Amino acid sequence: MPLTRRQVLQMMAAGGAAMLVPFERAMSAFAAPSTPQFAVALKKLKVLAKTSSDSTTDYYDIVMRPASVTIMPGKTTEVWTYNGSYPGPTIKAKSNRRVVVRHTNGLGVPTTVHTHGANVPPDSDGHPTDLIAPGAAKTYTYPNTQVASTLWYHDHAAHSTSRNVYMGLAGAYQISDRVEAALNLPTGAYDITCIIQDRSFNADGSLAFVDSHNSVLGDTILVNGRPWPRLAVAGRKYRLRFVNGSNTREYELRLDSGASLTQIASDGGLLSAPFVTPSIRLSPGERVEVVIDFAAYAAGTRIVLQNLKGVSTDGTDSIMRFDVGSPEADLSSLPSSLRTIARLTSTPTVTRNFTLSLNTSTGLWVINGQSFDPNRVDVQPKINVPEKWVVTNTSGMAHPFHIHLAMFQLLQRAGTPPSAGERDWKDTVRVDPGTSVEFVTKFTNYTGRYVYHCHNLAHEDHDMMAQMNVLA
Ligand code: C2O
Ligand code: CU
Ligand code: CU
Repeated sequence: MPLTRRQVLQMMAAGGAAMLVPFERAMSAFAAPSTPQFAVALKKLKVLAKTSSDSTTDYYDIVMRPASVTIMPGKTTEVWTYNGSYPGPTIKAKSNRRVVVRHTNGLGVPTTVHTHGANVPPDSDGHPTDLIAPGAAKTYTYPNTQVASTLWYHDHAAHSTSRNVYMGLAGAYQISDRVEAALNLPTGAYDITCIIQDRSFNADGSLAFVDSHNSVLGDTILVNGRPWPRLAVAGRKYRLRFVNGSNTREYELRLDSGASLTQIASDGGLLSAPFVTPSIRLSPGERVEVVIDFAAYAAGTRIVLQNLKGVSTDGTDSIMRFDVGSPEADLSSLPSSLRTIARLTSTPTVTRNFTLSLNTSTGLWVINGQSFDPNRVDVQPKINVPEKWVVTNTSGMAHPFHIHLAMFQLLQRAGTPPSAGERDWKDTVRVDPGTSVEFVTKFTNYTGRYVYHCHNLAHEDHDMMAQMNVLA
């Protein structure tokens, strides 16, 4: 009996990287995307409404609960949501103005909420063991003493993050500031966040999650919860914020018009200057922002945002499509310099080495040979002291390495200086097989326990995560 798409995906998830080639061959038997591409409109993410506010703080309430939504045309899918939306509603914060979110867990499983990229006290960081029991609630405080940036919030429960995020627990968190506002970049309807996540579905429309240790790859590319959507754009500039919210899949963004992309921001906010590049790689957890000027195209032009890391046989080589309409007056700008970025010293006195590998006897992914143990502290950085971290991948699979609490500046990847798209503030960096990256970072404002880990959620859960205790 021929394998179904679902069975092939399960084999793939069970077999991991070693199965990649046979998997793509097996999938080529389908030779078609799981649902027609560019057939549905991109959904704009909802903005979360405040519950109340005072002179220093905006207060929000979120209930995590199951919801039935339409993702695949004509089918119903049960997802786990923040306030009933998949992806969750966007939290819009202002630099230096506090946000307080009360999360109530209306799901049947324990959860914890992490705002990825946020500089927050340890008890608001969503530590993997700081769980909200079903029926319970927890209040998280976000001081937002950081610059304009596209962050995202997602579940972080120990050993269940992969499932919980796959089921839908992810949303965008944006911080704005005056420096950004003064640039006059495209705003409002011309500033669009796109959360990219791949998913697979069973015939009844339900999500086909498999708790692999290695790879959780879907055959359907969703943007903001819609399969391969299209976006009608006017002939003018747009700011597009891409979040890779996928469990394992890396994308390489490119326009099929052949035009270059103009990158303006990475994980930690605006770059020092726009960076023009033919394509942009985006690993799980990473964010990138671009400005595209659709005035360069005639009305009626259709431009596919491609994924150079995907394959045509199942359609994962495409992400979404821009359908260009009539030209429109455009008073926004794209300045040639965006902000001043102070460089952290490239010669810090503390250097730490991390090796990412597979323990072949347990089948678990490890950092410096060890599985995650919440009772063990792996490193103890001092607050405000710059450190150099050297991360070496001795395995055969790439790992997006992510640290909590702080942003970092990349010094080198695989022995060469980083591109301008990766040189400024980041919190997640891809480490390719057999290579190392070096970055400099500094933990500021809070002491206590935080994690660092691989952002391939299958690896994070099994067990490529470790703990630091930031000391005074
Ligand atoms: Cu996006 Cu520790 O997470
Ligand atoms: Cu994080
Ligand atoms: Cu990994």
